[in-house]
This record gives sequence, C-alpha cells and structure tokens, in this order.
Amino acid sequence: MRFLLCLLIHLLHIPTKAFPSPQLRNHHSFNWDTTDSLIAFGDSYTYVQGTLGHVNSTFIGDLQNLVFTSSQLLSDLIVQNQIGTAEGGPNWVQYLTQCGLKPGLTKLKECKVQLWDFAFGGADVSEEFTPLHHNYTVSLEKQVEQFLDYGDPVLSTFLDKSKALVTSWIGINDIGDSAKYNVSFPGFYDKLQARHFEFIDSIYARGYKNFLLMNLPPLNRRPGLVFSPNPSVNATMIQWWNSALQSHATAFSNSHSDVEVMVFDVNKVLNGVLDEAEKWGFKNTTGYCTAYNQPDILTDPGKYGCLPQKEYFWFNTGHLTWRTHEVLTGFLREFLEGRGKSENSSVQDME
Ligand SMILES: *[C@@H]1O[C@H](CO)[C@@H](O)[C@H](O)[C@H]1NC(C)=O
Ligand SMILES: *[C@@H]1O[C@H](CO)[C@@H](O)[C@H](O)[C@H]1NC(C)=O
Ligand SMILES: *[C@@H]1O[C@H](CO)[C@@H](O)[C@H](O)[C@H]1NC(C)=O
Ligand SMILES: *[C@@H]1O[C@H](CO)[C@@H](O)[C@H](O)[C@H]1NC(C)=O
Ligand SMILES: *[C@@H]1O[C@H](CO)[C@@H](O)[C@H](O)[C@H]1NC(C)=O
Ligand SMILES: *[C@@H]1O[C@H](CO)[C@@H](O)[C@H](O)[C@H]1NC(C)=O
Repeated sequence: MRFLLCLLIHLLHIPTKAFPSPQLRNHHSFNWDTTDSLIAFGDSYTYVQGTLGHVNSTFIGDLQNLVFTSSQLLSDLIVQNQIGTAEGGPNWVQYLTQCGLKPGLTKLKECKVQLWDFAFGGADVSEEFTPLHHNYTVSLEKQVEQFLDYGDPVLSTFLDKSKALVTSWIGINDIGDSAKYNVSFPGFYDKLQARHFEFIDSIYARGYKNFLLMNLPPLNRRPGLVFSPNPSVNATMIQWWNSALQSHATAFSNSHSDVEVMVFDVNKVLNGVLDEAEKWGFKNTTGYCTAYNQPDILTDPGKYGCLPQKEYFWFNTGHLTWRTHEVLTGFLREFLEGRGKSENSSVQDME
C-alpha cells in the first residue's frame, strides 16, 4: 500500500505542473467523495452495454435511434457479463462508480454513484474529421447531441449537477483512423481538440461544472502494431494528441472561472504499469490471447494455450483487459480523491 502510494505520487508528479493554477480564480471545488453521478462519453474503452443499447456498442440507442423517452432511459439496465464491454469484463467507469460492476443487470438508480454512459464502441470525435466505423456509429459529436436533446432533460429532473462528474475519453479511434492522412498531425489534433472542447462547453452551458478528460494510452505498445499496415501510430503522435488535449483543457479552465477541469494522465500511468507489470500480476504485456472472446476463456484458458485473462495487459489488438482497467482505476481514484481533499492543492499546482 505504501509502495503504491509512493508510486502514485511519482507517476502523478509530471502532470501536476500542467494543471491550471486555481488560486488565480475562484474555482468550483470538486470532491470525489460527494460525487453521486458520472456522465460518460467516449468509445469502446468507456461504453457499457444497456438492455436498450445497440449490441456490443451502447447503453442506449444508436445513430438511427438517438431519441429516447424519459421512461426508456430510466428503465434501461446495465448488463455486466463477458461481452457487456469491449474488455471482457468491467471497464474503468464501472470500477470507478461500482455501478454495473456485479454480474447481471443493474438499475442505475440503485447505484451510489450513478453511471450515465453515452459512449459508443468505435466512436471518433466527429464525422467531419474521420469516417464512421459503421453506419450506426454514434460519434462523440452525436453522443453529446443525444445527451443535450434527450439525456440532460431527463437527468435534470433528479440529478444534482454540482455533484456530477462529466468525463470524456476519446481519440483512440481517431488517431488510428487518421494515421494515413497526409496532414500536419499536431495541427490536425489541435482542430479535433478544439471541437472536443466545443462539446464540453455545450455541456457546461447546461450547468455541469466538473470535467474529467482522459488522455491516450500507450497505443504504440499494443500487440497489433506489428501486424498493422504502415504508417502506424507512434509515441510521438500520441504525445502530440495528449499535449493538444492538455492545452485545450488549460485554456478551457482559464476561460471558465467556475469549472474544475481535470486531465488524467493515462499514458504515464499505463507506461509505468507496463514497465513494472509483474507488480500488478501481469505476465504478458506484449501479446494477447487470440481466444479472448471464447465463452469459457475465463475458466479454461489452458484449453487455448493461454494464461488466465487477468495476467494479460492487452485484451486484443486494440483493447486493455478488464484487469488493466481495474489497475488504472485504482490510480484514477487516488487522483480524484487527492483533487478533492487537499486544501493545499493550489500551491502544489504552481510548482
Ligand atoms: C458481440 O460481440 C461478441 C463477442 O465478441 C460476438 O461474439 C458477437 O457476435 C457480437 N454480436 C454482434 C451482434 O455483433
Ligand atoms: C447500414 O448498413 C447495412 C449493411 O451495410 C445496411 O443493410 C443498412 O441498410 C444500412 N442502414 C442505413 C440506415 O443506412
Ligand atoms: C501531402 O501534402 C503535401 C502538401 O499539401 C503535398 O505537397 C504532397 O504531395 C502530399 N503527399 C502525398 C503523398 O499525397
Ligand atoms: C511518428 O510519426 C510521425 C508522423 O508520421 C513522424 O513525423 C514522427 O517522426 C514519427 N516518430 C517516430 C519516433 O517514429
Ligand atoms: C503473450 O501471449 C501470447 C498469447 O498467449 C503468446 O503468443 C506470446 O508468446 C506471449 N508472449 C510472451 C512474451 O510470453
Ligand atoms: C497545508 O499545508 C500546511 C502547511 O504546510 C499544513 O499544516 C496543512 O496540514 C496542509 N493541509 C492539508 C489539507 O494538506
């Protein structure tokens, strides 16, 4: 435990300097302990299966079915099983909120921290920049539109927005889909982030004040890379993406005196985990079990010549295992708790 804490402090050392300095403004104070809802946007790293969702893609609806009624949204249940996420088990939003974590069906209103998830497996920022993966894919742009038109009006009737945390984790598909483009990537990523923060701003305009942005994981270390056609995503491109995210987050924070904008450095945390993987029980960080989606893979991995799934960092060529999500969430929870509690955080942010 002591070691984990030291490591956490070590891992979080660099990102702290990039945070905006709250003492210049009267920032809204975020507190994870009193947070009672998480409103999520993103892609397959973040979506959870709903009984009214598109199979393998969403909690609710798809591009042809963006509209839902209040009673549909409120009766939708989270499905937790091997195919309820793209990770073979719970993902980070479920570990963080503990909502929909147990196998079977979960009613959101029974969760201590309600998870309202508008993410869509395979989403990019906007069709303006990259094509849809499927004709039913809901881009981040459309997720936010769906939320503003149908989600927020329902949630507004019972959610305390000051205790809601809005999160967006996007770019995993964008950076891969655009790798073949003949563009200047730093400029291109900056345009995507500008659009991303227009979406954030439209959510802010509805009264939400707490935002958590997740940066890109070390996709340059994923197993599929050796097989994927050139050009592929490298560490430099990921760093360009992540610095565009950080600078737009800082600018957004500077221009909105009453918000808390947090950027969680997934990249740094997961590179650290990959470098010392055995400390978390990972035995394989470079490959994945090709039988990852077999129904008995959790109980009989040996049948397929695989290790237990929790010993793999990667679930398949593009996704982290549920165990990696669990490890990541441990770091994230400490980060969020630290943000809320330290009265001296503004001083630390200046270093
Ligand atoms: C959903 O994903 C599972 C696991 O990968 C797959 O077996 C199934 O065919 C998928 N269903 C659809 C409708 O795509
Ligand atoms: C989506 O694509 C499928 C398969 O290509 C096709 O059958 C379907 O009609 C398309 N739906 C829409 C709304 O374009
Ligand atoms: C890429 O774009 C540049 C500038 O627009 C152009 O000069 C160059 O020919 C393009 N390269 C390819 C391979 O299309
Ligand atoms: C990564 O790719 C970008 C874009 O093609 C290129 O400019 C950069 O030099 C590459 N970096 C490395 C370390 O290969
Ligand atoms: C990782 O796991 C894959 C699939 O089980 C296997 O093919 C590969 O050899 C393993 N790599 C190492 C370094 O053990
Ligand atoms: C803030 O810093 C002061 C002086 O170093 C210390 O006494 C106090 O306990 C700190 N408060 C918190 C909440 O860390």
